[in-house]
Amino acid sequence: MGYIDIHCHVLPGIDDGSKDMDETMDMLKTAADEGISDMIVTPHYKQGRVGISRKDIGELIAEVEKYAALSGIKIKLHPGTEIYYNSSLEEKLENGWLSKMNDTEYVLVEFSPMETFPYIRNALDDLLSLGYHPIIAHVERYACMLGNVENVRIVRDMGCRIQVNAGSVAGDYGFKVKHFIKKMLKEQLVDFIGTDAHDRKKRKPEMGKCVETIRKQCDQDYAEELLFARAKRELLI
Ligand SMILES: [Fe+2]
Repeated sequence: MGYIDIHCHVLPGIDDGSKDMDETMDMLKTAADEGISDMIVTPHYKQGRVGISRKDIGELIAEVEKYAALSGIKIKLHPGTEIYYNSSLEEKLENGWLSKMNDTEYVLVEFSPMETFPYIRNALDDLLSLGYHPIIAHVERYACMLGNVENVRIVRDMGCRIQVNAGSVAGDYGFKVKHFIKKMLKEQLVDFIGTDAHDRKKRKPEMGKCVETIRKQCDQDYAEELLFARAKRELLI
């Protein structure tokens, strides 16, 4: 098994990710070349703005995989959604309209980058009390988290999982972000890696530099856990 990308926008024509099937194929080819074997596709859901149902995601995955097979690209796609938190998600999660992560109880959740820590903590508490396991999308993007490892520890201790973007690990978003992630890796606070790929050019599904950084900064067991084992055990069941 290769790397598992748990956060990407490769489905065509849904959100601000891939524009069409042609771009999707280019993105999947890049992913496969980077050693990615599995992607959990996570189109944006924001109430009243953007989002498609679990059923539609399943149909689109089947279509994309058909094209990928015809193009000789070996990659497996799994359903997910990047859910922009609001306080009335419960019904859409309960009735199965919203896609959880590969039909587990894990949900990938995002917030406004400037959201306050108490709001985020309460939101996560709500999801946990409903029985879901929140994975915080790109934790490095929130002002109340960046540079504040203690806040990351608090939400992780509550039972949340932490996802960071491959490009952030690699240093593509500057020293402050890279340094913050280094500190989290040292304390083994990061659970999952996602490329958060959006297109074929600027935000491609790249893993190579991230993997190199993780292998340099982490002991071998944690690196294996982070790059393969945890996502396989918890999300690809
Ligand atoms: Fe995303």
